[in-house]
Amino acid sequence: MSAFSAPSGFYAQRLARLGAVLAPMAGYSDAPMRQLAAEQGALWTVSEMISARGLVHGGENESLNLGRPYAGETGRVVQLFGAEPAVLAAAVQKVESWFAPAAIDLNMGCPVPKVRGKGGACLLQTPEVAYELIRAMKSATGLDVSAKIRLGWDSNRSLEIAQGLSEAGAAVITVHGRTSAQRYTGEADWEAIARVAASVPTPVIGSGDIVSVGGARQRQQLGVAAVMIGRGAVGNPWIFRALASGQEQIPSPSERAAVALRHAELQHHFYTAPHRQRTGEMKAASMRPLRKVLPKYLPDQPELHAALVQVETLEQVREVLAPLLDVKGSQGYSASASAGARYAVTRS
Ligand SMILES: Cc1cc2nc3c(=O)[nH]c(=O)nc-3n(C[C@H](O)[C@H](O)[C@H](O)COP(=O)(O)O)c2cc1C
Repeated sequence: MSAFSAPSGFYAQRLARLGAVLAPMAGYSDAPMRQLAAEQGALWTVSEMISARGLVHGGENESLNLGRPYAGETGRVVQLFGAEPAVLAAAVQKVESWFAPAAIDLNMGCPVPKVRGKGGACLLQTPEVAYELIRAMKSATGLDVSAKIRLGWDSNRSLEIAQGLSEAGAAVITVHGRTSAQRYTGEADWEAIARVAASVPTPVIGSGDIVSVGGARQRQQLGVAAVMIGRGAVGNPWIFRALASGQEQIPSPSERAAVALRHAELQHHFYTAPHRQRTGEMKAASMRPLRKVLPKYLPDQPELHAALVQVETLEQVREVLAPLLDVKGSQGYSASASAGARYAVTRS
């Protein structure tokens, strides 16, 4: 019997607006990136995938950075991967009580070896297991449960799989328009995504290769409920602003620099934590994870890239960006306040 019913939860509410969704991206869609995307009008954001087994049997707790929200975070979907119904159900309960998500998503698309064999894209080979997982997850929570798939394992089975997920009660189905075998090669097949959107009553979110506002608008015409943006949002949270407001304002180099700095400040704020060895001391967050991100904010300033890929501290980020920041001297720059104010001004 079909579990499909007209959506009325978090997703339905968010899909009443215009905009785009921030994709889950391991190593990228952490709290700082989600915060910038949400501020710029993303419909919702999705966490990096979290192992259900790790949550249930791995001794994790609510301090896990992968799941922990930033202060005041709303509209964040937590994504789980796994393959055992009972473990997924238990993980859903932990996620709900620890991380206060808006909804919970099942990863059915990640092709990396760590995930293969335990869930992720492997579920595309055994979709009946995925349907059972969705039912188990739904039995553990009143929140919306969704799934994110690829077109198939090595051939396109997306219609059949989306139909099964819909019948199992998924509130939203996100389709990345490649097979698992394709990894990230070739182009995402948006015609295949459109066929899925036309064939199931569940809202379908399309994912793959959107790097511009024009590209997003074109794909929005294909019958999907919304589009999702991953790599195209790295160093480019403004793409959400343009799609939510309908107006594209090209950010100036100083706005780009201010938001890059704000990203670094959010990184500092979220990851600075008590020192493990030295009681009473704090360990400042490293900027290393941002080395791959900061240059993307400034595609037209290649002369800064060599320095940006070597930053270790927040102060170093500030020094590198200082020439672009639209303030009198980097010394007097009150980073959060200035960047926040610039943000607010440009958003209004
Ligand atoms: C570095 C990286 C990490 C990713 N991690 C995840 C993940 O944790 N869960 C998931 O469902 N998809 C993950 N994806 C896939 C993206 O969510 C998205 O579907 C894919 O990148 C295509 O969209 P894009 O072209 O807009 O990036 C990842 C992609 C990249 C590039």
